[in-house]
Amino acid sequence: MSTAAGFRRPALEEAEVLARLHLRCWREAYAGIVPEEVLAAAELSQRVAAWQRSLADPQRVVIAAYDGPEPVGFIIAGPSPETFLEAADGQVAALYVLASHQRRGLGRRLLASAAQGWLAQGGTMLALGVLADNHRARAFYQAMGGRIVRTGTYSWEGHELADAIYVFDNLAELARLA
Ligand SMILES: CC(C)(COP(=O)(O)OP(=O)(O)OC[C@H]1O[C@@H](n2cnc3c(N)ncnc32)[C@H](O)[C@@H]1OP(=O)(O)O)[C@@H](O)C(=O)NCCC(=O)NCCS
Repeated sequence: MSTAAGFRRPALEEAEVLARLHLRCWREAYAGIVPEEVLAAAELSQRVAAWQRSLADPQRVVIAAYDGPEPVGFIIAGPSPETFLEAADGQVAALYVLASHQRRGLGRRLLASAAQGWLAQGGTMLALGVLADNHRARAFYQAMGGRIVRTGTYSWEGHELADAIYVFDNLAELARLA
């Protein structure tokens, strides 16, 4: 990887390359955590459509990390659905870094940049859900100052998976880690 990773909001035309990256990251991150049939059933066309919606939505903070021209990680944050966590105005809907590029500070900079972006939009808090067995991500969120507010289950294609909700309520402090 080049030493100077670039960070920016992707262009709408990048929806497909990001959808492919998203599926690859799912498979890397969730093998052994999410049932194989759920991962195998994930469709590129649905992911592309979801990426097009995210990139076209000015309320969403979308940032990708690039190694040269190639995106190798991304974060999507934005308004929180009411059912997610009552007190939180914002949520991180997705945060992924390719395994080949992990532990180089990209996740930290993506999360901190999203905090900056959400603050700039008048937000005060970011919540997120993580699968209980995703120990790598949980160690990362703890290192970044996240606080567990509840545990429960997340339904993915009809499979109930244990999860934990983390909250970041000092976005100014988080933003300084960018
Ligand atoms: C979670 C994730 C985004 C972290 O990104 P990353 O770029 O590897 O993390 P960083 O290099 O910025 O790590 C920052 C700090 O978090 C902690 N951390 C990160 N990964 C860790 C791990 N595997 N084990 C323990 N601590 C970890 C460390 O304190 C690290 O600082 P250090 O490297 O100086 O010790 C990345 O592991 C990932 O994409 N995982 C797969 C997808 C996923 O699970 N996403 C979350 C879905 S909710």
